[in-house]
Formats: sequence, structure tokens, C-alpha cells
Amino acid sequence: METPFVFGRIAKNENFTDRETETERLVKNFNSLINTIIISPRRWGKSSLVAKAAEAACSVNGSLRISFIDLFSVRNEEQFYANLAYSVLKATSSRWEEAVDSAKRFFSHLVPKIILNADLSNEFSLSFDWKDVRQNPDEILDLAEKIAAEKGLKIVVCIDEFQNIAGFDNPQFFQKRLRSHWQQHQNVSYCLYGSKRHMMLDVFTDPSMPFYKFGDIIFLEKIDTRSLIDFIRERFSATGKAISEHDAELIVRLADNHPYYVQQLSQQVWLRTTVTCDDSIIRQAHTSLVEQLSLLFATITETLTANQVNFLKALVAGETALSSYDVLSRYSLVSSANVTRSRSALIEKDILDSVAGKISFQDPMYLFWLEKSFFSSHS
Ligand SMILES: Nc1ncnc2c1ncn2[C@@H]1O[C@H](COP(=O)(O)OP(=O)(O)OP(=O)(O)O)[C@@H](O)[C@H]1O
Ligand SMILES: [Mg+2]
Repeated sequence: METPFVFGRIAKNENFTDRETETERLVKNFNSLINTIIISPRRWGKSSLVAKAAEAACSVNGSLRISFIDLFSVRNEEQFYANLAYSVLKATSSRWEEAVDSAKRFFSHLVPKIILNADLSNEFSLSFDWKDVRQNPDEILDLAEKIAAEKGLKIVVCIDEFQNIAGFDNPQFFQKRLRSHWQQHQNVSYCLYGSKRHMMLDVFTDPSMPFYKFGDIIFLEKIDTRSLIDFIRERFSATGKAISEHDAELIVRLADNHPYYVQQLSQQVWLRTTVTCDDSIIRQAHTSLVEQLSLLFATITETLTANQVNFLKALVAGETALSSYDVLSRYSLVSSANVTRSRSALIEKDILDSVAGKISFQDPMYLFWLEKSFFSSHS
């Protein structure tokens, strides 16, 4: 029997809960072609939210097309352009013949090479001569606008892991170029999202950067407890099992409302439950989940400096005055300059998150492991 919880995949339909206001806002932005930026730590549900809003917006707007690009493994401008052109052609063509036809019609300087996939109908790959693209990237940057205007469409280009462009050669110049084209588009808008909060903030909220004030910024939050409790209980009952309000809340609390972990822990609990869940099943499932992750956590911890580990130790112990003389000496933190450095490095590594100056752990299971396992045996 399939389990009623999903994690590590886009949450859709009955696997998707809450996010009503965010979905509504995004659908409105898509339909009104307002550029949008979505920022949240990893696995809080950006991709699922964008997919949900895209589907909802398209279902009420027949001339809307959404093109998706993931920059996760895109390392340079060349790959970026190839991905952008491919996804726009794909989103605006119902068959590959149409994509080939558009590619011929809308490029005049560039000569796209299209290879059809013999096994999958409607699948093709696209490449360009990089020398030509370097001289003429405009044709790709304006492709969506040209196609939209000619075919009477509106297009939203969604770009995941957008912060990766900060790692390209000469990123400021590249961003300037993107923005100067994109801000002139009348029939296309952009939804840019990513999980490295500090990098996304650098790109979008620094007045000296090209993408400053580019669009509506949504800081996605975790999912609220009420929705998650109802969601867990509903998924249990839909599969003939029961979990009390109190127990569902315990799952949410142990996973610290983290959408991915709530689903993962719920699945482990569900698998261990014959008919009715109880407290001890949840504790066991939680312990076993943290155990499964412990090797990964140990590996992460090994990459940290002694100072960073000491800093985490102070945080785990609930210290707040981290630069005070007392805390510095009790946790061997050396100096307040060292504290500041460790803090930034841990944020950079996505271990900690800082919102309005408040520090928190991104991964609730890592926090639990540090507290109950790592620091209790390394004291
Ligand atoms: N609205 C939701 N309702 C229920 N579960 C959700 C929801 N959004 C996300 N999740 C859970 O979180 C997991 C991660 O979601 P998703 O991939 O959308 O997040 P993300 O922020 O794009 O992650 P990444 O940073 O890895 O790209 C999903 O597989 C699902 O388990
Ligand atoms: Mg994602």
C-alpha cells in the first residue's frame, strides 16, 4: 500500500496543505504579470507552492503559459541561456514541431541545434554555438517576450535556485543584462526563487545590485500547526488509521513545523501504526529518524571548525548573550569577533538561519541530534 505522505517530491493535491494566502497572492501576480521573488530555507515548500499556483493560474487563464527552469546544476551563462531558451520553447509549444518552428522563426542571428529524443515523443534537446550566444544573448533573453507577443500569450518564467547566478563569472554584469531586458517585457513576468536566504537577499534587497526592487518579495514561512495537525489526521483517516489531535501535534512539534520533516516523520509514524497511533510510536519513529540521519549529521559536523562547534554548543544550551565575557569563556569562543565569524559561516553553510537578527537552526533533527547525542557525549 502506498503511504499517504510524500517528501522530497513536489507536494500536490491531497498532499498539499495550507498556503492559501501565498497561493492566492502568487496566482494574482502570475495573472497580472507582476514579478515575484520567493525566499525560504530548503525544503519549506517553494517548488510545491509555485507548482500549485501555476496550475491554479493556468486553469483560469487559457492564454497563460508557465516556463520552469531549475538552476540547481547550472554553473555558467552558457547553460543558463540554453535552459532558458529550451524551457520557453517547451512551455509555448504543444508539440515538438511547433517548438522547432518557433526556434526557426524567432532566432535570426543564433542557430539553435535541436535534437529529438527518439524514445520520448515531444522531448527534444536544444543547444547553441556558445561563441554566437556570447555575442548575441539578446535573442534568448527576449525570446519569451517575442513569442508571447506573436502568439497572443502571457508567459511567467519561473526560475528555481536563482541565487546560483551569483556564482557565474562576472555576476553583476550578467544580472544587469538580465534586468535591462526583463524590465522591458510587456507580456512576460518572472518568478525567481531560491533557498539560500543570505544570497537571495544580497541579490534582491541590496540597493547597489541590479535586481533591487525587481518585484514582490514573498518570505515563505513554515506551515502553521493547525493546518499540519488537520492534514496529518486527515491523511491517517483516509487510509483507515487514526491519530489523536494531541499525537498529531507532537509530530508537528518534533519536526518544528518543517514541511518536509512533518511529512517524513508522519510517514514513519504511519508505517509503525497498525490502527491507532500513540505517543510511544511517535517517540520511537522520531528516534529512529534521527538515527538514520546521524551519519549525515556527523559528516556535517566534521566539516566545522572547533569555534563553530563551540558556537553551536552555546546555542543548543540556550545561551543568548553569545558575545558576553561569561559565554565566551565558558564555551571557549575566544573573542566576539570569532563569534561573529562563526555565526556568518554557519549561516553561509545553511546550518543556521537568521531572521530579523534572531538565530535558529534550519534543521530541527540536526538540533535534536546535537543536543541529545553529539554534545551529550562530547561534554
Ligand atoms: N504545502 C505543503 N503541504 C504539505 N507538505 C508540503 C507542502 N509544501 C512542502 N511540503 C513538504 O516539503 C517537501 C519539500 O517541498 P518543496 O520541494 O516544495 O520545497 P522547496 O522549498 O522547493 O525545497 P528545495 O529547497 O529542496 O528546493 C515536500 O516534498 C513535502 O514533503
Ligand atoms: Mg525546490
